[in-house]
Amino acid sequence: MTQFELFSELPTADAFKALYDTTGWGPASRDTAFYQAALAGSWRARAAYAEGQLVGFVRAISDGHLHAFITEMIVRPEFQGQGVGAALLGAIIADCQAAGLDDIQLFCAKGKSAFYQRHGFVSRPDDAPGMQFKPAG
Ligand SMILES: CC(C)(COP(=O)(O)OP(=O)(O)OC[C@H]1O[C@@H](n2cnc3c(N)ncnc32)[C@H](O)[C@@H]1OP(=O)(O)O)[C@@H](O)C(=O)NCCC(=O)NCCS
Repeated sequence: MTQFELFSELPTADAFKALYDTTGWGPASRDTAFYQAALAGSWRARAAYAEGQLVGFVRAISDGHLHAFITEMIVRPEFQGQGVGAALLGAIIADCQAAGLDDIQLFCAKGKSAFYQRHGFVSRPDDAPGMQFKPAG
């Protein structure tokens, strides 16, 4: 079992980009300045470190009063399945609850619904789904 620690300070953009690029979500050609700017818009964050290496991250984007959106929930593949994700998610939910936020949302990646359900998330009803803008063409 890997020992890890959580910190609320944002990681460096270089370390975050290296972590983000493990997901295949975005073009690896994005430079660190892009991620630096994106991270600067975070409301709360948690970074997990093991032996000085960034091994996990999560953040919330929020107005601090009504809504929070949890995003960039990522654990390095070789550190998955050891409770790092659970610790990160629990910490960011606690941040939201401490601020009195009761609308905490996220988009669940394919195959991850059991993980989020274990942490208190439920799917929206079919007649009131979450929706995402998709440009025509
Ligand atoms: C989703 C993600 C962040 C979860 O991180 P993680 O560190 O693997 O999460 P945990 O270790 O806390 O839990 C994962 C599983 O390992 C199991 N587990 C946790 N600790 C364990 C331990 N000590 N021993 C054995 N199994 C354990 C849990 O039962 C859990 O099962 P579940 O997924 O069915 O709930 C990770 O899979 C990931 O980064 N995926 C790629 C990016 C992604 O898809 N992010 C989600 C975007 S919505």
